[in-house]
Amino acid sequence: MDIQFVTAATDIADKSALAIIVFEGAAAEADSLTGGVVGKALAQGRFTGAKGQVLDLGAPADHPAGRLLLIGAGKREAFDAVGAEHAAASAYGAVKLSGLTTLRVAFADEGAAQPDRAALGVRLAAYRFDRYRTKEPADKKPSIQKAEIVCGDIDAAKTAFATQSALADAISFARDLVSEPPNVLYPAEFARRVKGLEALGLEVEILGEAEMEKLGMGSLLGVGRGSARESQLAIMRWNGAADPAAQPIAFVGKGVCFDTGGISLKPADGMEDMKWDMGGAAAVAGLMHVLAGRKAKVNAVGILGLVENMPDGDAQRPGDVVTSMSGQTIEIINTDAEGRLVLADALWYCQERFKPKFMVDLATLTGAIIISLGNDYAGVFSNNDELADNLLAASKTEAEPLWRLPLPAAYDKQIDSMIADMKNTGGRPGGSITAALFLQRFVNGLPWAHMDIASTAWKKPSTVPTSPEGATGYGVRLLNRMVADKYEG
Ligand code: BES
Ligand code: MN
Ligand code: ZN
Repeated sequence: MDIQFVTAATDIADKSALAIIVFEGAAAEADSLTGGVVGKALAQGRFTGAKGQVLDLGAPADHPAGRLLLIGAGKREAFDAVGAEHAAASAYGAVKLSGLTTLRVAFADEGAAQPDRAALGVRLAAYRFDRYRTKEPADKKPSIQKAEIVCGDIDAAKTAFATQSALADAISFARDLVSEPPNVLYPAEFARRVKGLEALGLEVEILGEAEMEKLGMGSLLGVGRGSARESQLAIMRWNGAADPAAQPIAFVGKGVCFDTGGISLKPADGMEDMKWDMGGAAAVAGLMHVLAGRKAKVNAVGILGLVENMPDGDAQRPGDVVTSMSGQTIEIINTDAEGRLVLADALWYCQERFKPKFMVDLATLTGAIIISLGNDYAGVFSNNDELADNLLAASKTEAEPLWRLPLPAAYDKQIDSMIADMKNTGGRPGGSITAALFLQRFVNGLPWAHMDIASTAWKKPSTVPTSPEGATGYGVRLLNRMVADKYEG
């Protein structure tokens, strides 16, 4: 999508749609921008400017636009940057298949305009994964190629948009990883794509199975045993702090490129969804992408545990006992509870090597989080109130919903084993909580938070105009916001 900023006086070209963002009860303000052509429609219909409303006025004969639309942005007092994104994204959604090639977005109330965020909204809404379509009919393909955002000060809008554009690039990168089919995106291919981010100034190291063997990562390696594809650990570093030796912050992602369940095989129905069981690793990679893209003043580490969970003659069995890098032993009860096994070694490695200020892990860890919170909220667990509060604050600002759940010490015995230090499942009660308690045994007392994003990594149908159905990239903007607001400078 080509994004341009223009001033109100710029003439509108042929094949352009003009979408005017209006507040509830103030839709008539759009009349001054259209020479009075909207008044009649407003007087006769139900459009009020409420959030999410779209009034398509067609192509009025006495207006130069190829299409004229009003987009409701809700109450003026409640309008914020995310509201600007959503309004512009709705405008894109309304005209993307129209055959017109340019979308111009204007704010009826210039004083409330947020042109950079409107541009971000269009970019996120226009995301599409169409690499494997070979014969889509032309009239099903989006026709809008260019967005022109009306603003008062073009240079200021461009400067503000540079940061938003870096964020959109990173979210698209994460969405692409999640959308790729599992025959294409296996652990080594994921690692190669992450290695490609060195072009942005990141340092990337990839460990293979032999290196992980030496480190004693029996927990992570056990998961990949049934797979023909080699397991990988990707270590990404962004050193943007003024002091290159400053203690880093760290993010760890579950990257199960496909989760069949292993010997504890999942049912066939819906198993294809388990290609996005690497959504946590994709979000961490996306975060590192945006930190580098906007040259964040922070030292950050991103660690991705990349494996494939398959059944095989050599696969790990229920009943096996594995030894993790921490030295703690784990009895495997269910080979489908594999994400925590991957994270156990990735978290331990992270704290031991980097001694970070804190670790945040992201994982599509449990189906139970979907039962607890539904499809909009991710869950967060933490041993540190300040870190949890910082994540929750960022979640509000960026409209990526997050809800804190407890880590009750009393539930920890649910994962005690009869023959090893622990077992990898705690039964059905509080399934997301016992998964988090398992991870807590591998953070060595460091400030840590675990985000279970099984509920939010993939959306069908779409619930917000800035996230088309499919991969959401959930977590990238939330974490980027937290870093920007709390850990830079
Ligand atoms: N990747 C799944 C969790 C998941 C389920 C993500 C549905 C997205 C949608 C995870 O590896 C898993 O299989 N978890 C099991 C744990 C159980 C065996 C203790 C689950 O949630 O059923
Ligand atoms: Mn599983
Ligand atoms: Zn899984």
